[in-house]
Amino acid sequence: MNITISPCRNLRGQIKLPGDKSISHRAVMLGALSEGITEISGFLMSADCLSTISCFEKMGIRIEADEAEKKVTVHGRSLHGLSAPQGLLYTGNSGTTTRIISGILAGQPFESLLDGDSSIRTRPMKRIMDPLLAMGALIRSENENGCVPLRIRGGNLKGISWKSPVASAQVKSGILLAGLYADSETSVLEPALSRDHTERMLKAFGGTVSSKPLSGDNPISDGNPQSGGWKITVQPQPRLTGRRILVPGDISSAAFFMAAAAIVPGSELLITNVGINPTRGGILQVLRAMGADISLLDEKLQGMEETASVLVRTSSLHGTVIGGSLIPTLIDELPVCAVLACFAEGETVIRDAKELRVKESDRIAVMTEELGKMGADITPTEDGMIIRGGKSLHGAELDSHMDHRAAMSLAVAALAAEGETQIRGAECVNISYPEFFKDLQRIRTGG
Ligand code: S3P
Repeated sequence: MNITISPCRNLRGQIKLPGDKSISHRAVMLGALSEGITEISGFLMSADCLSTISCFEKMGIRIEADEAEKKVTVHGRSLHGLSAPQGLLYTGNSGTTTRIISGILAGQPFESLLDGDSSIRTRPMKRIMDPLLAMGALIRSENENGCVPLRIRGGNLKGISWKSPVASAQVKSGILLAGLYADSETSVLEPALSRDHTERMLKAFGGTVSSKPLSGDNPISDGNPQSGGWKITVQPQPRLTGRRILVPGDISSAAFFMAAAAIVPGSELLITNVGINPTRGGILQVLRAMGADISLLDEKLQGMEETASVLVRTSSLHGTVIGGSLIPTLIDELPVCAVLACFAEGETVIRDAKELRVKESDRIAVMTEELGKMGADITPTEDGMIIRGGKSLHGAELDSHMDHRAAMSLAVAALAAEGETQIRGAECVNISYPEFFKDLQRIRTGG
C-alpha cells in the first residue's frame, strides 16, 4: 500500500492509544502457562500479537479474542499443559514472539519448529540460543545464517547465571521463562535495565522474581558510572495462576504523536492512557531534554504498570545526546527521535544503539537513507546517527522497508515537511498499530 501525506498545521484533539505490544504478548504467554482463566483487556489486536496467539493455539491453548472490544480470554493449561504443536510455530515478523517463546519451548518435553517471515529469518537468535543451550535444551538453527527456522527440544533444564552482552528484554524474558522449568534458580545479568514487564507480570501470576542493580565496576557495566548493570533472578515454579490483566496504551505508539505535536506548528494533543513504566520512558526524557512542551496528567498505577495522559504542544526544539543506559528505555523510539532531531536546532547524537542495526530493518541505514531523501543532514555511525537539524525537509518518495516503526516515523516527518510525501509499503503499520493512519487523519481534521 502506498500512502500520500501532505504537510499540515494545528494537530488537535485526543489520541486513545492501542494496547502495549510487549505487555499484550506477555499476557497471552503467561496466561497459557497458568492454571485457570486469564482475561486481558486493552489487548493490542495487531499482526505481531496475533502471531503469539496463533502459536499458543497450535499448542492446545483455547484463546477467545474479541477484536472489537480488544478483549482476549486465555484458558491456561498450567506450566506443564502445553501439547506438542500441530505443525510449524509461525511467528511472522515478531522478534518478541520468537525469542520469548524459545525460552518457553526450552522447558517443554517435546520438539517444535519455529519460523517467521523474511525479516525474522535474518534477525540474530544466537543471543537466546546460547543461554538455552547452557540450560540443557537442544536447540538448533536450520538456517545457515544461524537464524530461524529453529528446532527446539526442551526439558530437564538446569538453572544458570547468564551474562547477556546486550540489554534485551526479549532475551531476558526468554531465559526467565525457561528458568521457571529449571532445577535451581536462574539469573540474567544485563548491562543496563531493559523493559521489566515480564518480571512485573510473573510476580502478579504468582512467580518469584527479584531484581537488583549491580555496582558500577561490574564487568557487564555499560560504562555509565550510574549503571553497573542489573541482575534479575527467577525461582523454579510449580504453578502460576491466571488473572485479569489491563494492558495500558503503548508508549512506543504514543511516541509518534508526541513527536508530531512537538514539530507540527500550532499543535496541541492529549494522548490518554499511556504506559509510562520507567523502563520504557526514555522518550519523555529526550523530549524534555530537547525543549518540548510536554506534561503528564492523571498519573496512576493501573494493575502492575504506571500510566498517565500526556499533553504535548508545539515548541522549538534543540539537539541533544541520546546514549548509555537510556537506550534500552527508548530503543523502539529512536527512529522517531531521528525525525525530532531533524526539526531541532543544532546537532543530535544518538550513540550506543548498535541494536538498531538488527531490528525489523537496519534502522540506522533505513532512517539515514529515507530522511536523506527529504533533505535531512544525517551521518550514520556504527552505533547510531549524528543529525544536524534545523533545516527544512521536503516531501519525497519514500520506502518503509516493511518496518512499521520506520513507516510511522517517516509519516511524522512528512507532516512537517514542505510538499507531499509518498510512503511505499505503508501497510506494515499493521504489525503494531493498524489504526495509525486513521488516527492521524482524525487529529488533522481537529476531531
Ligand atoms: C521488546 C523488546 C525490545 C523491543 C521490541 C519489544 C519486548 O527488543 O525492541 O520491540 O517486548 O521485549 P530487544 O529486547 O531485542 O531489545
